[in-house]
Amino acid sequence: MQRTEIKPLLHTRPEGQQVLVKGWVRTFRANRFIALNDGSCIHNLQVVVEFEQYDEAFLKRIATGAALAVKGRLVASQGAGQDVEVLADHIDILGDSDPAVYPLQPKKHSMQFLREKAHLRMRTQTFGAVFRLRHALAFAIHQYFHERGFFYMHTPIITGSDAEGAGEMFRVTTLDPINPPLTESGEVDWKQDFFGKETNLTVSGQLEAEAGAMSLSKVYTFAPTFRAENSNTTRHLAEFWMIEPEVAFADIHDNMDLAEDFLKYIIRYVLEHCPDDMAFLDRRIQQEEKNMKAELRRPMGLLDTLRFVLEHDFERITYTEAIRILRNSKPFKKGRFEFPVEWGKDLQSEHERYLVEKHYKKPVIVTGYPASFKAFYMRLNEPEEGAPGDTVAAMDILFPGIGEVVGGSQREERLDVLRAKMAAMKVPEEELWWYLELRKFGTAPHSGFGLGFERMMVFITGMGNIRDVIPFPRTPKNAEF
Ligand code: 4AD
Ligand code: MG
Repeated sequence: MQRTEIKPLLHTRPEGQQVLVKGWVRTFRANRFIALNDGSCIHNLQVVVEFEQYDEAFLKRIATGAALAVKGRLVASQGAGQDVEVLADHIDILGDSDPAVYPLQPKKHSMQFLREKAHLRMRTQTFGAVFRLRHALAFAIHQYFHERGFFYMHTPIITGSDAEGAGEMFRVTTLDPINPPLTESGEVDWKQDFFGKETNLTVSGQLEAEAGAMSLSKVYTFAPTFRAENSNTTRHLAEFWMIEPEVAFADIHDNMDLAEDFLKYIIRYVLEHCPDDMAFLDRRIQQEEKNMKAELRRPMGLLDTLRFVLEHDFERITYTEAIRILRNSKPFKKGRFEFPVEWGKDLQSEHERYLVEKHYKKPVIVTGYPASFKAFYMRLNEPEEGAPGDTVAAMDILFPGIGEVVGGSQREERLDVLRAKMAAMKVPEEELWWYLELRKFGTAPHSGFGLGFERMMVFITGMGNIRDVIPFPRTPKNAEF
């Protein structure tokens, strides 16, 4: 007999037909009602057990976490809370789960506890919903670009360059760390390493994606990226997934239009395609906030926040305007910002959140950042009125509750300007000779951006910590599993 998954079964007309279902026990109530879940959807299937048919020892083995195969009849449910249920004729215990030691009990566990049980946490309602959504979001992203004629490009994971120039890289080597081969002058001899040079895990696929765009016009990457920044926050991972579209003949305005349209599309997609999981997460937050002080609660529910983003244009402002707004703000005047607000200094999370959550109350795209603290590849702007220094055609998209979800720019396509910039920022030309050749042969304006996949997941699921939207998070001092 063929197994039926629970999701389709719940939408099947119950006519007493024989079915075979398999899944894990969530709860077993009154020696009679099994809540069975197979992960196909948020809902459990109710299995009704004629306990007179089984001995006590067998019934004891139907415990939370056990894997079962149940043959029975699909009938309309007598009880409230479900439309159909299965009257069990035969129960097979595929895998026992000793309730004395099984970590997941039918009660509320803390997020920290569940992180330590990451191999089991996907069996909870919350994490089941989160990881089904993660799939849907990834699928929506591919669909968006595919429908618009972009080509999915696989950029290297191991590279010799630092695309962001921030020096936050994990080294890749096969040399013996205790006794590496040395040159005559006593330095590590990287020539003897596997690739014959120093290599690291990529921080971004952008530079290679630019080569793709300068041939195929429209490409995107969707790949893991790695950053050895020692940031122990709810928004940083050492290994995260990034989506990086890159478009030839597009300027910074085209780039903003693309990013806004793309973000709205993927939000709309999950609202339309994952209503049950989204409704569950929405209720979860309401319950969590019930006992919180008003000022700690979200200004809007999860679903309302997502709909709000869909219905409003993102605010577009320059960095220079952002600084003016911040310096005129109450928290600035009352000295409540921890970090300085000064033209030439990067915006910190507290500033971004003020702009988005207090001032505009909607997503904001900030452009025209000072050249001094942005990456070398960003295009130098014409002198900007009111700006005391050079600015670049950068754009960061800031979301409520998250801060930066997208970072992007128009790229410097002028060879001489790019070389001067690299020299000033000490980016070695020998490493990026090929990148410079893209400007020597058929250069053209082009733009792109990077969306942090897990930051977007945090926004969509309303989870409070980025470690809870990736199955097995990598963070400082943590690479378990
Ligand atoms: O702003 P970033 O560093 O931009 C780039 O890497 C460019 N090469 C993108 C491009 O133009 N093609 O990173 C892009 C996004 C950020 O906006 C943020 O959402 C996410 O990646 N991000 C992280 N997400 C989780 N953990 C981290 N440590 C992250 N660092 C960046
Ligand atoms: Mg950034």
